[in-house]
Parts: sequence; C-alpha cells; structure tokens
Amino acid sequence: MSQIRQILDMNAFDASTGGDGAVKRRLDNLGAASVLFYREPIEMVAAKGAWMEARDGTRYLDFYNNVPSVGHSHPEVVAAVSAQVAKLNTNTRYLVEIVDDYLEALKTKLHGQLSNVVMTCSGSEANDLAIRVARAVSGKTGVIVTETAYHGNTALVTEVSPSALKRSPLPDHVVTVPAPGAAAYGEDIANGFRAAVVAAMETLETRGHGTAAFLADSIFSSDGIFADPAGFLLPAVQAVQEDGGLYIADEVQPGFGRTGDAFWGYERHGIAPDIVTMGKPMGNGFPMAGMAARPEHLAMFCEDVGYFNTFGGNPVAAAAGLAVLEVIAAEGLRENALRVGAHLKAGLTEVAAGSDRVTEVRGAGLFLGVDLGAQDGSGAPDAGYTVQVIDRMRASGVLIGAAGRFGATLKVRPPLCLNMAEADRFIEAFTGAVRD
Ligand SMILES: Cc1ncc(COP(=O)(O)O)c(C=O)c1O
Repeated sequence: MSQIRQILDMNAFDASTGGDGAVKRRLDNLGAASVLFYREPIEMVAAKGAWMEARDGTRYLDFYNNVPSVGHSHPEVVAAVSAQVAKLNTNTRYLVEIVDDYLEALKTKLHGQLSNVVMTCSGSEANDLAIRVARAVSGKTGVIVTETAYHGNTALVTEVSPSALKRSPLPDHVVTVPAPGAAAYGEDIANGFRAAVVAAMETLETRGHGTAAFLADSIFSSDGIFADPAGFLLPAVQAVQEDGGLYIADEVQPGFGRTGDAFWGYERHGIAPDIVTMGKPMGNGFPMAGMAARPEHLAMFCEDVGYFNTFGGNPVAAAAGLAVLEVIAAEGLRENALRVGAHLKAGLTEVAAGSDRVTEVRGAGLFLGVDLGAQDGSGAPDAGYTVQVIDRMRASGVLIGAAGRFGATLKVRPPLCLNMAEADRFIEAFTGAVRD
C-alpha cells in the first residue's frame, strides 16, 4: 500500500457500509467502481451559476468542481449545444465549419509552435496521446511526474498517476519528484525542483529508458496546489528540453483562465511547453478535451499509428467549446478569477493568521490550496481534521474537496463566475468550520 493518499479516496463514501435508497441503487449499478463524495452522499437535482441544489431542497455553494467553470447550466453554452445537436453532429472525417472555427479560436490562446490540436473526449485520452507523441519524438520511454500526480485513467496514464495507484508499484519507466513546495525544497524551489528533475532524468537514463517527457499539471492540483514563486517551473522544464525530452503541460485543471493572471497555468512560469493537454472546463460539462502539439511532432507520431477519435472534436463539442471561449471573454471571467481570487486568498490568509490549524494558504486566481494541521500546533498535516472541516462546510452549505500528499489540503476551486458575496460566504463558512 503506497503511503500517498489516493485521490479518489479523499472524502469518499465508504461503500463497505452498504447504504439504502439512491445510494444502494448506485452501488448496485456501478459496483466497486463507484466513488461518491461524502460519508453521507448528496443527491443533486439541479445547478445554476456557482450553486447546486439537492433533492431535499438544500442549496450548496459549489467550490468542488472545475468543470462548470463559466457557471453551472450557463445559458449560452446550453443554447449553443442545443442548437448544434439539433442541426448536425458527426465526426471529424467530414468538413464542418464550426469545428475549424473552434480550433482557430482555441489556437489564438496557445503559444509557440503549437498549431495542431487533436480533440479527444477526456483529459485522460489527451495525456495518453501526449505521452505517445513524446515517445515517438524523443525515441525514449521514461516519464517524470510529481509524487502525488493524477493525469487520468487509461492504462498508460494510470502508470504516471501515483495518486491513483492503491497497491501497484510505479513501473520502471516512471520516476517521481516531490511536489514543488518549501517542504521539499526550502526557499529555492526553482533550483531544488530542477535538481530533483535532473536526478530523475539520470535515474531513467540508468534504467535504460531515458526521458521522453516531464508531465506536470502546471498548478499541481492533486499534489496540493503549488503556484509560487511564479517562474519556478522554468529551470526544470529547460533541463528536460535540453536533454531531448518534451515538457507536457497538463492544463486540465489550471487552463481556461482559472489562475487569473493568464489563460494557461504554464504562462505563470514563462514556459514554452512542447505539448499542452486540456479538458475539464473546456466544454463546461460537455465531455471534450484536447492535445495541442507542434505539427512536426504530431506527424512523427502519425507516421506509425495515426489517430482517430469517434466523438472527439465533433460539431457539438465545437459549439460548446466556442461558447465557453466567448463567455470567458464577454464576462471577463479570467479577470474575475484574479479579482475574486485575490479577495478570497486575503480572507483565508486572515483566517490562517488567527488559527493554529490553518497552516498555509497558497495558489493563484480561483485555485487555492489551504493546508490543515494537527491540534498540537505542530503544523503536521491532519487528514482526519480535513474531513471534519469538509463535513462542517457541507453542513453550512458549501461543497469543498481535499488534495495533497497527506489529504490535508483543501482544494478551493469554485466556478470562475464566483462573485464577492459568494467568496465572503465561503470565508464565513470556513471561519466557522476551523473554529476548534
Ligand atoms: C490534472 C489532470 N489531468 C488529467 C485528468 C484526467 O481527465 P479526465 O478525467 O477528463 O480523463 C484529470 C482529472 O481529474 C486531472 O486532474
């Protein structure tokens, strides 16, 4: 059993306790693959903006979901998807104008030579493809990830997702590095992290794999959210690129304006990624994801196997994606993430200053990590207390989740349309939840 907390186990319903009603129905249907939030799961019936509504009529402020990023049931996304599904839905083997309209709009957000985008249905598929492209380009097989990373659920991607592995050891071609925080690297995170990545490259070399890719979530979500100091990621990325490996920026979590200062998380670090993968907020709930790469890199991969995805990049996905980009721009949601995120961070930092149990607040825009520690004031991570706080927040009408190596970091990640009053509501609930 790995000592790292499995991401799917955090704040999860314990299925071994059985259940009745809707819970039993779900367990009977999904069996061992069922994962439900909360020790007492919630049945949801509707959602709008930053709010979700349960069957019993309780309304919850949603800080737990990176998918409905422009707001649950956003009318423009709903209208765009409805209109397109009523008109035409087919695969990318036909020319359909809206698909290229979308890809061109998306490409205006990307940097460097990333002018080809392959559309998929999930972030897992995007990362799977990215690793395969990196192997084809580099001629090597090893992958470096952080020690509590999560990159998805295909066979290949599960191997590079330490936080998903319950029993299996990491395969020989995967080497992990500690998350880029002061706990592992002290003051000089940039150089410490670079040294760890270089050591990982040496290990992969010794094992005969070499480094095909350094794959990292640009805000290290499942590791516990590490955004600062801006730029710390650059030296590690450069070391990999100088050695002929590719940097895959997994933007499934930070992409689409969440960090407030930029559209992508990698921009915070001044990096030129070789590949960018994206998903979750891309369609605001419509299942769509993608991988952006340089044309010559994609061509090298396609020389051997090629790639086709039946549902990926269909016209309905394009309609959803286009509507999301339009709403982000029209409603100034990146700017909102910066403004409301700064307010939220300041409020939570103030709570931390008055509490022994809130040990650190960090992050960027509307993506914050809040560490919770033991009662003895030692600052030691306290996963049990974190679950208690999550339950108390739920009792006061706020949904929140955990992350990090020890499962003791609250992952604060509301929709980007969050307003100041809603941020205050969160701060108030949190203040109450950590009172003792
Ligand atoms: C950073 C990161 N990458 C990739 C994925 C996989 O995306 P999906 O669940 O759409 O396959 C996730 C999902 O949580 C993620 O957090």
